[in-house]
Amino acid sequence: MEDPSSSKLSQSSRRLEGKVAIITGGASGLGASTARLFIQYGAIVVIADIQDDLGHSLCETILESHKDSNPTISYIHCDVTREDDVPNLIDSTLSKHGKLDIMFNNAGIPGKCYNTDLIEVDGEDFKRVMEVNLYGAFLGAKHAARAMIAKNTRGSIIFTASLSSVMAGEGISHAYTASKHAVLGLVRNLCVELGQYGIRVNCISPYAVASPMLTNELNLEMKRVEEKAYEAGNLKEVVLRAEDVAEAVVYLASEEAKYVSGLNLIIDGGYSTTNPVFPKCLRLALINH
Ligand SMILES: NC(=O)c1ccc[n+]([C@@H]2O[C@H](COP(=O)([O-])OP(=O)(O)OC[C@H]3O[C@@H](n4cnc5c(N)ncnc54)[C@H](O)[C@@H]3O)[C@@H](O)[C@H]2O)c1
Repeated sequence: MEDPSSSKLSQSSRRLEGKVAIITGGASGLGASTARLFIQYGAIVVIADIQDDLGHSLCETILESHKDSNPTISYIHCDVTREDDVPNLIDSTLSKHGKLDIMFNNAGIPGKCYNTDLIEVDGEDFKRVMEVNLYGAFLGAKHAARAMIAKNTRGSIIFTASLSSVMAGEGISHAYTASKHAVLGLVRNLCVELGQYGIRVNCISPYAVASPMLTNELNLEMKRVEEKAYEAGNLKEVVLRAEDVAEAVVYLASEEAKYVSGLNLIIDGGYSTTNPVFPKCLRLALINH
């Protein structure tokens, strides 16, 4: 007789079997890790990005490393801020795979992320950050919802927000913080409207991950970024990596989260629950007393 725990295990190892997923910003960082994990869990994946060479080579690498299971993964050029690119992404996915189950609106840019001097803020930079991080995510959700409603799919729309959706300051620019707070507002509003169609809408808000976005922005190697993030983090003995964030996305995309909607899944080891400044000042005061 089959061991029920082993059947549960094999079910969970293919928990996205046959689901069609789009990942924007899927050529790099968190999006690329999610693409790998989605494939591992049995999904059909479409990567959408503006880094064409990187997107194509990621597909080839994934296909090569999963030769035995012969997965379905493809790349399509899509600038999420372009009114024509986004419908084209959704429509070509529908004509190729017949449906859309998971829309992961993950593309994002930091802009001049560490410029927090309001008077010095470059208006064009502010507009571009809002355009990619907010408007691009909105367009992705709009056209994904259109496809899900038309095909009567109980879909899952997921956004990548950030800790900047619930925290402010932290040396992060006004544009980035405003864009990620706005993504959370969008998630909440959309979850209310789309609930009637069985479509779930959630976002993830990760703490610092040493992706190309962060290493390039800080001009530091991956290991140094991880060291700094670890030092500042609340949870010790573990480093947050892109693969860990991808696991949270898989959860929100899967049937395990079938009644989860409107959630901002914060992946920060408790960082946003605490403010270490006062205890530090207190400790210093006690030492100097
Ligand atoms: N790395 C972190 O510490 C961190 C923390 C919290 C949230 N985030 C968010 O995670 C998401 C992914 O970032 P990442 O860290 O993986 O960085 P990344 O730079 O590695 O990946 C971002 C991807 O988005 C793509 N992209 C940018 N503009 C685009 C556009 N107009 N159209 C389509 N694709 C576009 C890029 O080409 C890139 O492949 C972003 O929304 C970012 O704000 C990152």
